[in-house]
Amino acid sequence: MTTKSYDGTIERKLFSEGEIAAAVERLAKAVARDFAGQPLLVLGVLKGALYVTVDLVRAISRVPDGPSQVELDFLVVSSYGNSTRSSGEVRMLKDTNASIAGKNVLVVEDIIDNGLTLQYLRSLLLGRGPASLKSCVLFDKPYNRRVDVPIDYVGLVTPDEFVVGYGLDYAESYRNLPYLAQLRPWVFSE
Ligand code: PRP
Repeated sequence: MTTKSYDGTIERKLFSEGEIAAAVERLAKAVARDFAGQPLLVLGVLKGALYVTVDLVRAISRVPDGPSQVELDFLVVSSYGNSTRSSGEVRMLKDTNASIAGKNVLVVEDIIDNGLTLQYLRSLLLGRGPASLKSCVLFDKPYNRRVDVPIDYVGLVTPDEFVVGYGLDYAESYRNLPYLAQLRPWVFSE
C-alpha cells in the first residue's frame, strides 16, 4: 500500500474505509430525502472535506428521487496550520465561486472539534441570504466545543484523540489514508 511510510506512526485505526463509506452513504440518504425534488448547492470546506464532499455528492446522486440538481463548490479555510491545536482564528484562504443567495446550501465538513470553523462559516454564509443553510459533518468530536453550533447531519462520533486520514492531516501529511487513525503521540509532540 502507498501509505507504508506511515507504518509505525499510527497508534490505531478508529474507523475503517468500510465504516466511513457506510456513514457517508447514510448521510447521503438523509440529505437526498430532505432535499428531494429541490436544487442543492453543496459547499465543501477544504482541504479536509475534499474526500467526504466528493464521496457524499456521488452517493447523493445514486439515491433515487433526490435533489433535482446538485451544484458543487468549495471554499478553503484554515485554523490549525501545522499544529495539532487550533489557533482560535479562522482564516479564509479562498471564498466560494458560486453565489449562494436564494439557494439551499449544505456546508460539508470533515470534522468539528471546538466548533469555531463551522460557526464562522455559518455566520458568514447566513449573511449572504441563502434560502436555507444546513451543515453536514462526517466526524464529530463533541468534547472540546467552545461554541454551540447546530449540525444537521452527523456521521461518526469520534474519540477525543488527534486523528488523521480521509482528508484530515498532520502537517499536511496523512490526508490520503483511506481510514481514520489516531497518531502515536511522539509524532506530534511539540
Ligand atoms: C480542520 C477541519 C475543520 C476544522 C474543524 O481544518 O477541516 O475545518 O479544522 O475544527 P474546529 O471545529 O476546531 O474549528 P484545518 O484548519 O485543519 O484546515 P484543513 O481543512 O486545510 O486541514
